[in-house]
Parts: sequence; structure tokens; C-alpha cells
Amino acid sequence: MSGLNEMYDLNGKVAIITGGASGMGRAASLLFAQAGANVVVADLNDADGEHVAKLASECGNESVFQRADVSAEPDIEALIARATDTFGRLDIMFNNAGIGGAIGPLEDVSVEDWDRTQAVCLRGVFLGMKHAAGPMRAVGGGSIISTSSTGGLEGSTGLFSYCAAKAAVAHLTRCAALEFAGDRIRVNCIAPGGISTPILFGIGGSNKEQVEAGLERFQPYPRVGQPEDIANAALFLASDAAEFITGHTLVVDGGATAGPKIAVPKPGRKRRSRFAGPSFERSPS
Ligand SMILES: NC(=O)c1ccc[n+]([C@@H]2O[C@H](COP(=O)([O-])OP(=O)(O)OC[C@H]3O[C@@H](n4cnc5c(N)ncnc54)[C@H](O)[C@@H]3O)[C@@H](O)[C@H]2O)c1
Repeated sequence: MSGLNEMYDLNGKVAIITGGASGMGRAASLLFAQAGANVVVADLNDADGEHVAKLASECGNESVFQRADVSAEPDIEALIARATDTFGRLDIMFNNAGIGGAIGPLEDVSVEDWDRTQAVCLRGVFLGMKHAAGPMRAVGGGSIISTSSTGGLEGSTGLFSYCAAKAAVAHLTRCAALEFAGDRIRVNCIAPGGISTPILFGIGGSNKEQVEAGLERFQPYPRVGQPEDIANAALFLASDAAEFITGHTLVVDGGATAGPKIAVPKPGRKRRSRFAGPSFERSPS
């Protein structure tokens, strides 16, 4: 067992973070860099991706940007090669890139939009797992983390392809965890609830303030979820502190899937304890 600080130390480790230009991926790129990793920031957004890689490099070790479409196998192969060619190894693969994709009533979803959503949110994760495993095996293990969603755990409407893909990410995580356990490659995913990131801004014309006001009403814990909440969970799963955890879906949602917000007692309100015995003993009111 290592000491507390060493447990979260990523010095000497190399991490790829897809969707690293924005939101959770950006926060994770900066946090992993602060923890000592060399980060390969991967995204379709060149300008913001380059900027995040520059900020990550300012944390200490060199980080780089690699343009990659996670749905394209040659791009993922080139991404993995960029990490191993530049930094000599791969220890952490964070399959995080995502889009909302097809939005609207189920009967209106086109096959093309369904497939485009699946290609990014599910095929992208599969490809990340497929091509990260080899280099991780070569260095005696690693950590694969993917971003699922509470939308993949609970039913909802309007995001059918997205929710189906995110449910599949959680199950693929369990299957891949079995496949790679013998190689000491841990495979986990994070299921965020509503988090204030650009993926939610602009949908239905809502700006950041309006999105955050909506999220505030949504989950029991009394503040809006931020990308750093997901980055913290990802660092835990990437680190030695999570060495015995694999096949797990870590829900990070401020209690949204624990139960309805209406069940949360109002802080400071006085309540009294009672006991409800057999109903026949109670007089009807
Ligand atoms: N924000 C939320 O409420 C929420 C909740 C649950 C799950 N998620 C998931 O979290 C992950 C991160 O999203 P975010 O909220 O930080 O949103 P975001 O839009 O800020 O970041 C997503 C990033 O992925 C990139 N991307 C999209 N398609 C890509 C592709 N084909 N190849 C490479 N990069 C691509 C985007 O350019 C962007 O930089 C996504 O998988 C998303 O589905 C978000």
C-alpha cells in the first residue's frame, strides 16, 4: 500500500482523455496533469483542444493535443500511437467524448441520427477499449474509464439513442472488466447526473444560467453539479486508490437517482418521530 499522496499521484503515467477540449474532459485533463500525468487531449475541436493541452502542460509535465473522431477506428489507432510514440506508454484511457445526438419523440428519430449517436457514444467507447488494452498490457496494467450517464440507468424520454448507448456503455464496462482483469487492466465507468457543461447549453435556446437554474431544481443535493465533480471521480478511478475496483459504474449525480427530491426534508424544519403499527389498530380518520 502506498501513502495517501502517492495513491493519487499520476507522475510517470500517461493518460488519453477524449472529449478533452470541453466540460468534463477539460476538467479531467487539467486535474490529471496537476496529479503529474502526461495527458493526450483528444477532440474534434482543435482550437479548444490545443488550448487545454497548453494549460495542462503549464501544470508541469508535457501534454499534447491530438485531433480524433472517436467514432473512427483509424483516428483511435492514431491517437493511441500518439500517446505511445510521444510518451512511451499508456496507462489511463478516459473514453469521455459524447454528444446528445438524436433529440425528440421516438417515432421521429431517423435511422441515420440513431446511428450517428451510437457511433460517437457507444462505438467510440468500444474503440477506445479495443485499442488501449494492448499498450496497457505491455506495461503491466492500466485503467480504462468511460463516461456513461444516469440517462443509461433510468428511463427518460427525448434522448432514446443516447440513453440506450449510455446503458450499453455501463454493460460493456462490466464485460470488458472481465476480459481484461487477468491483465490488471481495470475497466470502470462514471454515470454523471446533470452537470453544467456546454453539452447542455443552447439546447432549446437555454443559456448557462437557465440550464443551471434547471439543474438546481433537479437533484437532492443543493448545488449544481460541475465538471470538476466528474474529474475528481475519474482521478479516483485512475489512481491506485481504486486498485481493487473494476466493472463498476460510479454514479455522480448529487443523489438524483437515489430518490425524488420531494423526499428531502427541509433543512431546519422540526420533525417528530412516530411508529406506525398494524393498520387495523389505527382509528380511521
Ligand atoms: N453534462 C451532462 O449533464 C452529462 C450527463 C451525463 C453524461 N454526460 C456525458 O459526459 C461526457 C462529456 O460531456 P460534457 O458534458 O463534458 O460535454 P461537452 O460538450 O462540454 O464535452 C464533450 C466533448 O466531446 C467532444 N466530441 C464530441 N463528439 C466527438 C467525437 N466524435 N470525437 C471526439 N470528440 C468529440 C466535443 O467536441 C466536446 O469537446 C459525454 O460523454 C456526455 O454524454 C454529460
